[in-house]
Amino acid sequence: MIKMCVVGSGYVGLVAAACFAELGHDVTCVDNDSGRIGALERGDVPIHERFLPELLQRHRGKRLRFSSSLASSVQASEVVFIAVGTPPSESGETDLSYIEAVAREVGAVMATNASGYKVIVEKSTVPATTCEGIRRVMELNGASAASFEVASNPEFLREGTAVTDFLYPDRIVIGAEGPRCIALLQKIYEPLTSGAYYGLKEAIGEGAPAAPARLIVTSAKSAELIKHASNAFLAMKISFINAVAAICEGVGADIDQVRQGIGADSRIGSRFLNPGVGYGGSCFPKDIQAFRAVAQSAGYDFRLLEEVVRINDEQRRRFMAKLRSALWSLRGKRLGVLGLAFKGGTDDIRESQAVAIIQLLLKEGCSIAAYDPAAMEKSRSSGVFENQDVSFSSDAYAAARSADALLILTDWEEFAALDLARLRAELKYPILVDGRNLFRPESVTASGLIYVSMGRSEVPQKAAAIPGK
Ligand code: UDX
Repeated sequence: MIKMCVVGSGYVGLVAAACFAELGHDVTCVDNDSGRIGALERGDVPIHERFLPELLQRHRGKRLRFSSSLASSVQASEVVFIAVGTPPSESGETDLSYIEAVAREVGAVMATNASGYKVIVEKSTVPATTCEGIRRVMELNGASAASFEVASNPEFLREGTAVTDFLYPDRIVIGAEGPRCIALLQKIYEPLTSGAYYGLKEAIGEGAPAAPARLIVTSAKSAELIKHASNAFLAMKISFINAVAAICEGVGADIDQVRQGIGADSRIGSRFLNPGVGYGGSCFPKDIQAFRAVAQSAGYDFRLLEEVVRINDEQRRRFMAKLRSALWSLRGKRLGVLGLAFKGGTDDIRESQAVAIIQLLLKEGCSIAAYDPAAMEKSRSSGVFENQDVSFSSDAYAAARSADALLILTDWEEFAALDLARLRAELKYPILVDGRNLFRPESVTASGLIYVSMGRSEVPQKAAAIPGK
C-alpha cells in the first residue's frame, strides 16, 4: 500500500484516484475547487463513466479521500500524481500554468516540511521537457534536489471506458530515471503487472485478460512523446479512413468491405478505422495542436498532422453536403438529431462534432429536436444552444416525430438497436442520414427508409456478409 495523492479531480484525476484505491493504495484526491470536493465527499459522481460510481462507493471514506488542501495532502504522501488540466493556449501550445502552479506549491510544501523522499508524477498530457520544468520550479521554490524525483506516467484512458482502460491497460508507460523512483511506480502498478488484481473475485470488469498488463520503462521525455505520438497516430487513422470513405463514395466501393480488408492486416489492425463525422473530444483536437507545437519547437514541421486536422474539419462540410443532396434546401427544415456527445458512452460534449454540425444546421435555418442518452443535461447547462431553435426530446422516437429527416451524429450503441419501422412511422419524410454507419444499408432500406451513410452508396450493393457489423 502506497500513500499517494492525485492532484486534479477531472476525468483523468478522478478515475486514476478511484482506480489506485481499487489497487489497494491509500489515496487523497485533491482539487482547489472546494465545491467539487464537497460534492465528491457527499457521494456525487460528477462524470458519466461506467464502473466509477461503484469504485467511489467502494472506497470513499476508506482508501479514498477528497481534500482541497494540497499542502496537507502532499505532506502525507509518498507519491504525488499531477492530473490537472492542460488547455491549449492561443498559439496551440499547451498552457502549463496549472501544472506550474501545482509544482510551485508542492516545492514550497517540501521546502518547509521534512516529510521524506517523494516522487512527483506527471499524468496529464504534456509536451516533452515538462518533467524538467516541474523539477526546476520545485527547486526554485525550495525543495532540495535530493528529496524528490519527477516522473512521467501518461494516461491512455478513453472516456466511457476509462475505468476498464485503466485497470486493463495495453501498456503502462513509466518515464523515470532513478531506480528508487522506478521501483516505487512499479510497485503501484504491481497488482496489474503481476495479474494479481485480475484474480480477485471483486475485480471490476469482465474477467482476466489473456496476459497481465505490460509495463514499459523509458526516459521521461520519451514517455511524454509516447503519449503525444499515440494520440496523433490514432487521429491519423481516423482521418485516413474518412478520406478512404470519401473515395469509396466517388468510385462506388463500400467502406465496410474496404475497412475489413485493410484491418485484417495485423500490421494495421481493425480498431479506430470507423469512418464518421470526424473525431472530437477533449483530447485529440487539443493534443494534435500541442504535438505540432512540440514538433515546431524541436525544429520539425509536422505537416502530416496539419492534413489530419484538415481532413477532420472537412468531414463536417462533407456531411452537410450529403444532407443538402438528401434534403435539397435546408432552410425551414425540422430535423431530428440523435447524439450530442463527442462519442457514444459519455456525456461529454467538448469539441463534439455533433454540436458543431447542429450549429451549422441552425445557421442554415433548420430547427432541431435532439436526443442523447447522457449528454442533454450538459448541452442544456453549457448554453451551447442558448436561444437557438433546439429542443430536447425524451427519446429517439420523439426526436424523429414529424421531422423532415433523422440524423445520427454520435455512435451510441443503443441507437443501433432502434426499431427502424417505428422511426419510419414517426418521420414526416423517411430519410435517415447516418454519420456513424450504425446500420447495414439493407436493413434500413428494408424498413422503408432512404439511407444515407458514410463511404457507402445510397443504393445498397449486393454485398457479401460482413461479420461483426
Ligand atoms: C482519446 C484516446 O483514445 C485516449 O487514449 C487518450 O487518453 C484520450 O483521447 P477519447 O477522447 O476518450 O480518448 O476518445 P476516443 O475513443 O479515442 O475517440 C475520440 C474521437 O474519435 C471520438 O469523437 C470518436 O467518435 C472518434 N472516432 C474514434 C472515430 O471517428 N472513429 C474511430 O474509429 C474511433
